[in-house]
Amino acid sequence: MINVAVIGSGTMGNGIAHVFAQHGFAVALIDISQPALDKALGTIGKNLDRQVAKGGLTDADKTATLGRIRTFTSIAEGVQGVGLVVEAATENVELKLQIFRELDQHAPQDAILASNTSSISITKIAAVTKRADKVIGMHFMNPVPVMKLVEVIRGYATSDAVTTQIMDISRQLGKTPTEVNDYPGFVANRILMPMINEAIITLFEGVAGVEEIDTVMKLGMAHPMGPLQLADFIGLDVCLAILRVLHEGLGNPKYAPCPLLVNMVTAGRLGVKSGEGFYTWGHGTKDLIVADRFKK
Ligand code: CAA
Repeated sequence: MINVAVIGSGTMGNGIAHVFAQHGFAVALIDISQPALDKALGTIGKNLDRQVAKGGLTDADKTATLGRIRTFTSIAEGVQGVGLVVEAATENVELKLQIFRELDQHAPQDAILASNTSSISITKIAAVTKRADKVIGMHFMNPVPVMKLVEVIRGYATSDAVTTQIMDISRQLGKTPTEVNDYPGFVANRILMPMINEAIITLFEGVAGVEEIDTVMKLGMAHPMGPLQLADFIGLDVCLAILRVLHEGLGNPKYAPCPLLVNMVTAGRLGVKSGEGFYTWGHGTKDLIVADRFKK
Protein backbone atom coordinates (compact mmCIF):
# COMPACT_ATOMS: atom_id res chain seq x y z
CA MET A 1 0.00 0.00 0.00
CA ILE A 2 1.41 3.42 -0.93
CA ASN A 3 1.98 6.16 1.63
CA VAL A 4 -0.06 9.32 1.16
CA ALA A 5 0.49 12.99 1.97
CA VAL A 6 -2.43 15.39 2.33
CA ILE A 7 -1.70 19.13 2.02
CA GLY A 8 -4.04 21.35 4.04
CA SER A 9 -5.83 20.38 7.25
CA GLY A 10 -9.09 22.34 6.83
CA THR A 11 -12.50 20.74 6.39
CA MET A 12 -11.62 18.92 3.16
CA GLY A 13 -8.02 18.08 4.08
CA ASN A 14 -8.89 16.55 7.45
CA GLY A 15 -11.76 14.60 5.86
CA ILE A 16 -9.44 13.24 3.16
CA ALA A 17 -6.76 12.29 5.72
CA HIS A 18 -9.48 10.61 7.83
CA VAL A 19 -10.73 8.46 4.95
CA PHE A 20 -7.25 7.37 3.77
CA ALA A 21 -6.16 6.49 7.32
CA GLN A 22 -9.43 4.66 8.02
CA HIS A 23 -8.75 2.47 4.98
CA GLY A 24 -5.23 1.51 6.06
CA PHE A 25 -3.04 4.11 4.35
CA ALA A 26 -0.23 5.80 6.29
CA VAL A 27 -0.95 9.53 6.00
CA ALA A 28 1.30 12.58 6.38
CA LEU A 29 -1.01 15.53 7.07
CA ILE A 30 0.77 18.77 6.19
CA ASP A 31 -0.17 22.36 7.06
CA ILE A 32 1.78 25.53 7.76
CA SER A 33 0.52 25.80 11.35
CA GLN A 34 0.83 23.20 14.11
CA PRO A 35 -2.30 24.51 15.94
CA ALA A 36 -4.29 23.97 12.72
CA LEU A 37 -2.94 20.40 12.54
CA ASP A 38 -3.83 19.76 16.20
CA LYS A 39 -7.34 21.08 15.58
CA ALA A 40 -7.65 18.81 12.52
CA LEU A 41 -6.68 15.74 14.57
CA GLY A 42 -9.36 16.74 17.12
CA THR A 43 -11.97 16.99 14.33
CA ILE A 44 -10.96 13.63 12.87
CA GLY A 45 -11.24 12.09 16.37
CA LYS A 46 -14.78 13.53 16.80
CA ASN A 47 -15.89 12.35 13.36
CA LEU A 48 -14.48 8.86 14.10
CA ASP A 49 -16.48 8.93 17.37
CA ARG A 50 -19.66 9.47 15.31
CA GLN A 51 -18.80 6.40 13.25
CA VAL A 52 -18.08 4.37 16.41
CA ALA A 53 -21.37 5.54 18.00
CA LYS A 54 -23.27 4.42 14.87
CA GLY A 55 -21.56 1.00 15.04
CA GLY A 56 -19.65 1.41 11.77
CA LEU A 57 -16.25 1.31 13.50
CA THR A 58 -14.84 -0.07 16.76
CA ASP A 59 -12.78 1.85 19.33
CA ALA A 60 -9.78 -0.17 18.13
CA ASP A 61 -10.43 0.99 14.52
CA LYS A 62 -10.52 4.57 15.76
CA THR A 63 -7.19 4.21 17.59
CA ALA A 64 -5.59 2.49 14.59
CA THR A 65 -6.88 5.20 12.20
CA LEU A 66 -5.50 8.03 14.32
CA GLY A 67 -2.24 6.07 14.70
CA ARG A 68 -1.74 6.14 10.92
CA ILE A 69 -1.76 9.96 10.73
CA ARG A 70 1.45 11.94 11.30
CA THR A 71 1.53 15.72 11.09
CA PHE A 72 4.15 17.94 9.45
CA THR A 73 4.59 21.69 8.99
CA SER A 74 7.03 21.26 6.10
CA ILE A 75 6.15 19.93 2.63
CA ALA A 76 9.75 18.81 2.02
CA GLU A 77 9.67 16.58 5.13
CA GLY A 78 6.07 15.38 4.86
CA VAL A 79 6.28 14.08 1.28
CA GLN A 80 9.35 11.87 1.82
CA GLY A 81 8.62 8.35 0.53
CA VAL A 82 5.01 8.96 -0.50
CA GLY A 83 3.39 7.52 -3.63
CA LEU A 84 0.50 9.99 -3.72
CA VAL A 85 -0.02 13.58 -2.61
CA VAL A 86 -3.55 15.00 -2.35
CA GLU A 87 -3.52 18.78 -2.15
CA ALA A 88 -6.49 20.34 -0.34
CA ALA A 89 -5.20 23.84 0.41
CA THR A 90 -7.26 27.03 0.16
CA GLU A 91 -8.88 27.51 -3.25
CA ASN A 92 -6.43 30.14 -4.51
CA VAL A 93 -4.71 29.72 -7.89
CA GLU A 94 -1.35 31.28 -7.01
CA LEU A 95 -1.13 29.34 -3.75
CA LYS A 96 -1.89 26.04 -5.49
CA LEU A 97 0.64 26.70 -8.25
CA GLN A 98 3.30 27.45 -5.63
CA ILE A 99 2.45 24.27 -3.70
CA PHE A 100 2.69 22.15 -6.86
CA ARG A 101 6.08 23.67 -7.74
CA GLU A 102 7.26 22.66 -4.27
CA LEU A 103 5.68 19.22 -4.49
CA ASP A 104 7.33 18.61 -7.85
CA GLN A 105 10.67 19.48 -6.30
CA HIS A 106 10.37 17.41 -3.12
CA ALA A 107 8.01 14.46 -3.74
CA PRO A 108 9.52 11.21 -5.09
CA GLN A 109 9.89 11.27 -8.89
CA ASP A 110 7.21 8.64 -9.45
CA ALA A 111 4.66 10.08 -6.98
CA ILE A 112 1.23 11.09 -8.29
CA LEU A 113 0.26 14.68 -7.46
CA ALA A 114 -3.51 15.08 -7.07
CA SER A 115 -5.53 18.21 -6.31
CA ASN A 116 -8.88 18.36 -4.53
CA THR A 117 -9.62 21.64 -6.30
CA SER A 118 -13.30 22.29 -6.95
CA SER A 119 -12.74 24.47 -10.00
CA ILE A 120 -9.11 25.35 -10.79
CA SER A 121 -7.83 23.84 -14.04
CA ILE A 122 -5.82 20.62 -13.52
CA THR A 123 -4.04 21.31 -16.81
CA LYS A 124 -2.90 24.68 -15.48
CA ILE A 125 -1.68 23.14 -12.20
CA ALA A 126 0.10 20.34 -14.11
CA ALA A 127 1.88 22.88 -16.33
CA VAL A 128 4.02 24.19 -13.44
CA THR A 129 5.42 20.69 -12.81
CA LYS A 130 7.76 18.47 -14.81
CA ARG A 131 5.37 15.54 -14.44
CA ALA A 132 2.12 16.69 -16.07
CA ASP A 133 1.28 13.04 -16.86
CA LYS A 134 1.15 12.35 -13.09
CA VAL A 135 -1.04 15.33 -12.11
CA ILE A 136 -4.76 14.65 -11.69
CA GLY A 137 -7.88 15.97 -9.94
CA MET A 138 -9.29 14.00 -7.01
CA HIS A 139 -12.35 16.02 -6.03
CA PHE A 140 -13.93 14.76 -2.81
CA MET A 141 -17.31 16.02 -1.59
CA ASN A 142 -18.07 17.42 1.85
CA PRO A 143 -18.49 15.74 4.35
CA VAL A 144 -15.72 13.52 2.97
CA PRO A 145 -16.24 10.53 5.32
CA VAL A 146 -19.91 10.35 4.25
CA MET A 147 -20.13 11.30 0.57
CA LYS A 148 -19.47 8.43 -1.85
CA LEU A 149 -18.24 10.36 -4.88
CA VAL A 150 -14.71 11.11 -6.00
CA GLU A 151 -14.76 13.17 -9.19
CA VAL A 152 -11.54 12.11 -10.93
CA ILE A 153 -10.42 14.84 -13.30
CA ARG A 154 -8.03 14.13 -16.16
CA GLY A 155 -5.88 17.07 -17.12
CA TYR A 156 -4.87 17.49 -20.76
CA ALA A 157 -1.69 15.44 -20.20
CA THR A 158 -2.77 13.02 -17.42
CA SER A 159 -1.80 9.46 -18.41
CA ASP A 160 -4.16 6.49 -18.66
CA ALA A 161 -2.05 4.59 -16.11
CA VAL A 162 -2.29 7.36 -13.51
CA THR A 163 -6.05 7.71 -14.07
CA THR A 164 -6.53 3.96 -13.60
CA GLN A 165 -4.44 4.01 -10.42
CA ILE A 166 -6.45 6.89 -8.92
CA MET A 167 -9.74 5.19 -9.82
CA ASP A 168 -8.48 2.03 -8.02
CA ILE A 169 -7.28 3.95 -4.96
CA SER A 170 -10.64 5.74 -4.73
CA ARG A 171 -12.40 2.36 -4.70
CA GLN A 172 -10.06 1.22 -1.90
CA LEU A 173 -11.44 4.18 0.08
CA GLY A 174 -14.97 2.81 -0.36
CA LYS A 175 -15.79 5.61 -2.82
CA THR A 176 -17.26 5.56 -6.30
CA PRO A 177 -14.81 7.33 -8.62
CA THR A 178 -16.19 9.01 -11.73
CA GLU A 179 -13.89 10.09 -14.56
CA VAL A 180 -14.39 13.50 -16.14
CA ASN A 181 -12.34 15.84 -18.32
CA ASP A 182 -10.75 19.12 -17.32
CA TYR A 183 -13.13 21.92 -18.34
CA PRO A 184 -14.40 24.75 -16.10
CA GLY A 185 -16.28 23.44 -13.05
CA PHE A 186 -15.64 19.83 -14.21
CA VAL A 187 -19.06 18.12 -13.88
CA ALA A 188 -20.07 18.46 -10.20
CA ASN A 189 -19.85 22.22 -9.98
CA ARG A 190 -20.85 22.92 -13.58
CA ILE A 191 -24.24 21.50 -12.67
CA LEU A 192 -24.47 22.27 -8.93
CA MET A 193 -23.49 25.95 -9.04
CA PRO A 194 -25.99 27.05 -11.72
CA MET A 195 -28.69 25.35 -9.61
CA ILE A 196 -27.59 27.25 -6.50
CA ASN A 197 -27.33 30.49 -8.51
CA GLU A 198 -30.83 29.97 -9.93
CA ALA A 199 -32.18 29.43 -6.39
CA ILE A 200 -30.61 32.78 -5.38
CA ILE A 201 -32.04 34.50 -8.47
CA THR A 202 -35.47 33.04 -7.60
CA LEU A 203 -35.16 34.58 -4.12
CA PHE A 204 -33.79 37.87 -5.53
CA GLU A 205 -36.74 38.21 -7.90
CA GLY A 206 -39.20 37.60 -5.06
CA VAL A 207 -40.66 34.45 -6.58
CA ALA A 208 -40.49 32.73 -3.18
CA GLY A 209 -38.78 32.97 0.23
CA VAL A 210 -35.75 31.08 1.54
CA GLU A 211 -37.76 28.34 3.27
CA GLU A 212 -40.11 27.88 0.33
CA ILE A 213 -37.28 27.49 -2.20
CA ASP A 214 -35.42 24.98 -0.02
CA THR A 215 -38.61 23.07 0.83
CA VAL A 216 -39.52 22.69 -2.86
CA MET A 217 -36.10 21.19 -3.63
CA LYS A 218 -35.92 19.04 -0.48
CA LEU A 219 -39.38 17.52 -0.60
CA GLY A 220 -39.96 17.82 -4.35
CA MET A 221 -36.61 16.54 -5.58
CA ALA A 222 -35.45 14.52 -2.54
CA HIS A 223 -32.32 16.63 -2.08
CA PRO A 224 -30.94 16.18 1.47
CA MET A 225 -30.53 19.96 1.79
CA GLY A 226 -32.17 22.79 -0.13
CA PRO A 227 -29.85 24.76 -2.46
CA LEU A 228 -29.74 27.86 -0.20
CA GLN A 229 -28.86 25.79 2.87
CA LEU A 230 -26.24 23.93 0.83
CA ALA A 231 -24.81 27.26 -0.39
CA ASP A 232 -24.47 28.35 3.27
CA PHE A 233 -22.63 25.09 4.04
CA ILE A 234 -20.28 25.32 1.03
CA GLY A 235 -19.61 29.03 1.72
CA LEU A 236 -21.09 31.82 -0.39
CA ASP A 237 -17.58 33.07 -1.25
CA VAL A 238 -16.71 29.62 -2.61
CA CYS A 239 -19.95 29.50 -4.63
CA LEU A 240 -19.22 32.95 -6.07
CA ALA A 241 -15.62 32.04 -6.95
CA ILE A 242 -16.76 28.89 -8.77
CA LEU A 243 -19.48 30.78 -10.67
CA ARG A 244 -16.86 33.29 -11.79
CA VAL A 245 -14.67 30.42 -13.08
CA LEU A 246 -17.66 29.07 -15.04
CA HIS A 247 -18.62 32.53 -16.34
CA GLU A 248 -15.11 33.45 -17.45
CA GLY A 249 -14.06 29.99 -18.60
CA LEU A 250 -17.15 29.16 -20.64
CA GLY A 251 -18.01 32.73 -21.69
CA ASN A 252 -21.74 32.18 -21.42
CA PRO A 253 -23.87 34.85 -19.64
CA LYS A 254 -26.05 32.11 -18.15
CA TYR A 255 -23.32 31.57 -15.53
CA ALA A 256 -23.27 35.23 -14.36
CA PRO A 257 -23.51 35.25 -10.54
CA CYS A 258 -26.71 36.72 -9.08
CA PRO A 259 -26.13 40.30 -7.81
CA LEU A 260 -27.61 39.26 -4.44
CA LEU A 261 -24.86 36.62 -4.05
CA VAL A 262 -22.20 39.21 -4.95
CA ASN A 263 -23.64 41.65 -2.37
CA MET A 264 -23.81 39.03 0.37
CA VAL A 265 -20.16 38.04 -0.15
CA THR A 266 -19.10 41.70 -0.23
CA ALA A 267 -20.95 42.22 3.06
CA GLY A 268 -19.19 39.23 4.65
CA ARG A 269 -22.34 37.08 4.87
CA LEU A 270 -20.62 33.86 3.84
CA GLY A 271 -22.94 31.25 5.36
CA VAL A 272 -22.10 28.82 8.18
CA LYS A 273 -18.48 29.93 8.54
CA SER A 274 -19.41 33.59 9.15
CA GLY A 275 -22.51 32.83 11.24
CA GLU A 276 -25.01 34.12 8.66
CA GLY A 277 -25.99 33.61 5.03
CA PHE A 278 -29.52 32.76 3.94
CA TYR A 279 -29.92 31.27 7.42
CA THR A 280 -28.43 32.29 10.75
CA TRP A 281 -25.98 29.79 12.30
CA GLY A 282 -24.98 31.33 15.64
CA HIS A 283 -26.84 28.55 17.51
CA GLY A 284 -25.19 25.66 15.58
CA THR A 285 -26.18 23.85 12.39
CA LYS A 286 -28.97 21.54 13.54
CA ASP A 287 -31.94 23.97 13.44
CA LEU A 288 -32.76 26.01 10.37
CA ILE A 289 -33.52 29.66 11.21
CA VAL A 290 -33.92 32.04 8.28
CA ALA A 291 -31.66 35.12 8.57
CA ASP A 292 -33.52 38.27 9.72
CA ARG A 293 -32.83 39.90 6.37
CA PHE A 294 -34.91 37.26 4.56
CA LYS A 295 -37.71 36.90 7.14
CA LYS A 296 -41.10 37.84 5.77
N1 CAA B 1 -17.76 12.45 9.52
C1 CAA B 1 -18.29 11.23 9.74
N2 CAA B 1 -19.62 11.00 9.70
C2 CAA B 1 -20.45 12.04 9.47
C3 CAA B 1 -19.95 13.35 9.22
C4 CAA B 1 -18.55 13.54 9.26
N3 CAA B 1 -17.99 14.73 9.02
N4 CAA B 1 -21.01 14.17 9.00
C5 CAA B 1 -22.12 13.42 9.06
N5 CAA B 1 -21.78 12.14 9.35
C6 CAA B 1 -22.66 10.97 9.41
C7 CAA B 1 -23.56 10.92 10.59
O1 CAA B 1 -22.95 10.30 11.69
C8 CAA B 1 -24.73 10.10 10.06
O2 CAA B 1 -24.40 8.72 10.03
P1 CAA B 1 -25.51 7.55 9.82
O3 CAA B 1 -26.10 7.71 8.46
O4 CAA B 1 -24.73 6.28 9.98
O5 CAA B 1 -26.55 7.78 10.88
C9 CAA B 1 -24.84 10.57 8.63
O6 CAA B 1 -23.56 11.08 8.29
C10 CAA B 1 -25.89 11.63 8.49
O7 CAA B 1 -25.59 12.71 9.38
P2 CAA B 1 -26.65 13.45 10.27
O8 CAA B 1 -27.70 12.49 10.74
O9 CAA B 1 -25.92 14.26 11.29
O10 CAA B 1 -27.29 14.54 9.34
P3 CAA B 1 -28.11 14.41 8.01
O11 CAA B 1 -28.90 13.18 7.91
O12 CAA B 1 -28.76 15.73 7.89
O13 CAA B 1 -26.98 14.30 6.89
C11 CAA B 1 -25.45 15.25 5.38
C12 CAA B 1 -25.94 15.22 6.81
C13 CAA B 1 -24.83 13.90 5.01
C14 CAA B 1 -24.37 16.33 5.32
C15 CAA B 1 -26.65 15.56 4.43
O14 CAA B 1 -27.34 16.68 4.87
C16 CAA B 1 -26.24 15.77 3.00
O15 CAA B 1 -26.01 14.82 2.25
N6 CAA B 1 -26.13 17.06 2.59
C17 CAA B 1 -25.70 17.44 1.25
C18 CAA B 1 -24.22 17.31 1.17
C19 CAA B 1 -23.70 17.74 -0.18
O16 CAA B 1 -24.42 18.04 -1.11
N7 CAA B 1 -22.37 17.74 -0.28
C20 CAA B 1 -21.71 18.19 -1.46
C21 CAA B 1 -21.36 19.64 -1.31
S1 CAA B 1 -20.53 20.24 -2.72
C22 CAA B 1 -18.94 19.82 -2.46
O17 CAA B 1 -18.54 19.29 -1.46
C23 CAA B 1 -18.01 20.08 -3.57
C24 CAA B 1 -17.72 21.44 -4.01
O18 CAA B 1 -16.80 21.53 -4.79
C25 CAA B 1 -18.45 22.66 -3.63
